[in-house]
Amino acid sequence: MTLSKLIRTSLAAGIFLAAGSSMAAIVNDPEDMPPGEGRETVFYMCSACHSMAIVTQQGLSRKRWDDVLDWMVEDQGMAELDEATRNEILDYLADHYDEDRTNN
Ligand code: HEC
Repeated sequence: MTLSKLIRTSLAAGIFLAAGSSMAAIVNDPEDMPPGEGRETVFYMCSACHSMAIVTQQGLSRKRWDDVLDWMVEDQGMAELDEATRNEILDYLADHYDEDRTNN
C-alpha cells in the first residue's frame, strides 16, 4: 500500500467514525476546530499544504507534536517557525489534540 493510499484510507476511516461523534472530522474553517488561542494560526499554517483532518485526527503529546513540526520543517517543506509562533501552535495542539482526547 502506498503512503498516500494509506493516508486516504485512514482519513476515510476517521470521517466514518466521526459521523457518530460530536466533533466532525471535516475541517473547512477555523470555526470547525475547538475555540482557543492559536486556532487560526494552526488552521492557516497547516491547511496550506494538506487537509486539516490529517492534523485533527491525531492525538499526540506536546513532545510528539513538536516532533511532527520538526518533520514538517525538515522533510515536508514547511517554513521554519519563530519560537513564539511555534509555541502558540504547540500549546493549541497539545491542549486540544492530546493523547487522552476521547474523539479519535
Ligand atoms: C509546506 C507544506 C506543509 C505544511 C505547511 C504542513 N505540512 Fe504536514 N505534511 C506535509 C506533507 C507533504 C505531508 C505528507 C503527506 C503525504 O505523504 O501524503 C504531511 C503530513 C503531516 C502529518 C502526517 C499525517 C499522518 O497520516 O501521519 C501530520 C500529523 C502533519 N502533516 C501535521 C502538520 C501540522 C500540525 C502542520 C501545521 C503546523 C503542518 N503539518 C503543516 C506538508 C506540510
